[in-house]
Amino acid sequence: MRAVMPPFDSSFGEIDAASASTSQGASAAGQADTCLAVSARPLRDERGAIRGGVIAFRDINERKRNQALMEAQASELARAKERAEQESRYKSQFLANMSHEFRTPLNAIIGFSELLDEQTMGPLNERQKEFVGYVMQGGKHLLALINDILDLSKVEAGRMQLSSEWVSAEQLVEDVRQTVRPLADKQSIMLSFKVAEGLPRFFADPMRLKQILYNLISNGIKFNHRHGKVSVEVQEQEGALRMDIADSGIGIREEDLARLFREFERIEHRGPKPEGTGLGLALTKRLVELHNGTIQVSSNPVWAPPSP
Ligand SMILES: Nc1ncnc2c1ncn2[C@@H]1O[C@H](COP(=O)(O)OP(=O)(O)OP(=O)(O)O)[C@@H](O)[C@H]1O
Ligand SMILES: [Mg+2]
Repeated sequence: MRAVMPPFDSSFGEIDAASASTSQGASAAGQADTCLAVSARPLRDERGAIRGGVIAFRDINERKRNQALMEAQASELARAKERAEQESRYKSQFLANMSHEFRTPLNAIIGFSELLDEQTMGPLNERQKEFVGYVMQGGKHLLALINDILDLSKVEAGRMQLSSEWVSAEQLVEDVRQTVRPLADKQSIMLSFKVAEGLPRFFADPMRLKQILYNLISNGIKFNHRHGKVSVEVQEQEGALRMDIADSGIGIREEDLARLFREFERIEHRGPKPEGTGLGLALTKRLVELHNGTIQVSSNPVWAPPSP
């Protein structure tokens, strides 16, 4: 046993014994070092002269072991974080490269099938027109999916840059209205838009704002009944832009609301399953948050299916 002790007459008192380790023939016996905390106190006579001393040893092995464990856990955590960040960088890089590789041929597929569909290259019979329609639809669906995945991975990697400018809410709503009208007409959905009068311009990324509005309105159309209704209200609230999108559709059960904004989550509804991937709302939420906004949802399901 070896204890490192200060000389008696110099620094009596509690000693930080981190260095006062003792070894009980450790190397020979193959045992671990024993750590002891040592405190020493002088014993004085009535004139204050030192007559002796009290030395106390405290076993601090447990404390040392816990400390070592905590240090090991902290460095394992730091390594795991570094690994996760590295993997996320690889994933974003991979997705960015892949999306470029996908987009180029997809644009050709969509562009040429549109040309065929317009019949400028010659007439198509009914079946040919039907098949070209499937090619075009499939191509557009894939392109939208790839764009969403790329956007999400950009946000996750913190590389999504907003191109903000002063935006007119009326113009924004008008642009989105033109885009969603064909979707609504297809399902005979009635669209109503109400923009508060005299709204000031808002500093935001117009392309991303349109994406937010489009995602929410297209959901309202998709998860609706024929001849249903989707209404959009835009107003100012405490200096911010507030957009309310409501629909008369199938609704969402209370217990499903929390899943809505997670990637690839699609809720089971009765009836035919509309097209989609479950990325729209996850991306919408992130885009809203990038603008320092919040998104909320409430629903009164009318004929949602019973819990499984
Ligand atoms: N207005 C709504 N009414 C009822 N259910 C909805 C509504 N909006 C979203 N949901 C439910 O939430 C799920 C997630 O919506 P989200 O927009 O993320 O995905 P999606 O529309 O299915 O696919 P994507 O938007 O990627 O094309 C939907 O699949 C649907 O089940
Ligand atoms: Mg959607």
